[in-house]
Amino acid sequence: MQADFWQERWQRNQIGFHQAVVNPYLQRHWPVLPPGSRVLVPLCGKSLDLVWLAGQGARVLGVELAPQAVEAFFAEQGLQPAVVRRGAFDCYSAGALEVWCGDFFALTADDVADCTALYDRAAMIALPPDMRQRYVRHLTAILPAGCVGLLVTLDYDQSVLAGPPFSVPDEEVRALWSGGWQVDQVECRDILDEGGKFVSAGAQRLDERAYRLKL
Ligand SMILES: C[S@@+](CC[C@H](N)C(=O)[O-])C[C@H]1O[C@@H](n2cnc3c(N)ncnc32)[C@H](O)[C@@H]1O
Repeated sequence: MQADFWQERWQRNQIGFHQAVVNPYLQRHWPVLPPGSRVLVPLCGKSLDLVWLAGQGARVLGVELAPQAVEAFFAEQGLQPAVVRRGAFDCYSAGALEVWCGDFFALTADDVADCTALYDRAAMIALPPDMRQRYVRHLTAILPAGCVGLLVTLDYDQSVLAGPPFSVPDEEVRALWSGGWQVDQVECRDILDEGGKFVSAGAQRLDERAYRLKL
């Protein structure tokens, strides 16, 4: 998925992936972390999950390509962010919330050296196969050992519908994250009754899974 694709989605407000409520798996399965822990949220959009994480006492580092998304996030939260340039990113911050606007793949180990947690909802599954392999490799290369996290995925018959969101079956999740991560599935639900376009396309199941991660 090239940058233009996502910029256009945001420009046209085609953001069906955005959730109007905090993700329930996050609320159910997020680990208790020491106050002030820094959490990396790649491909964060304008997710309310960022706000929930900050409400748990975390410092949040979201990374998002589309400036429209970043600006909408702070505006909708009634926050006036400070904006500074840092390397390849425009870094927006307000209190415990930081969103770096730029390409996730430009993030360095220095940038995330103090991150002890990772939250991925609709990030890995937003990427086609070659890119999601690169995505996981990049996270593994830059995040410090001991990092914990939560990953939320979708698994459906990819032949009935093209992504994004892409189907990433359990076996692929385990293969992708096998390079140093401990992967534990904590929940799996068939959400086909919530997935209008999947039903119309003829999908027979739409499994949403949550995994706890540890590097
Ligand atoms: C499917 S959306 C998910 C957003 C968010 N995680 C959520 O749950 O609402 C994927 C997001 O990733 C952003 N994105 C795509 N490629 C990116 C990249 N290389 N670097 C940073 N953000 C990216 C898109 O602009 C889009 O907002």
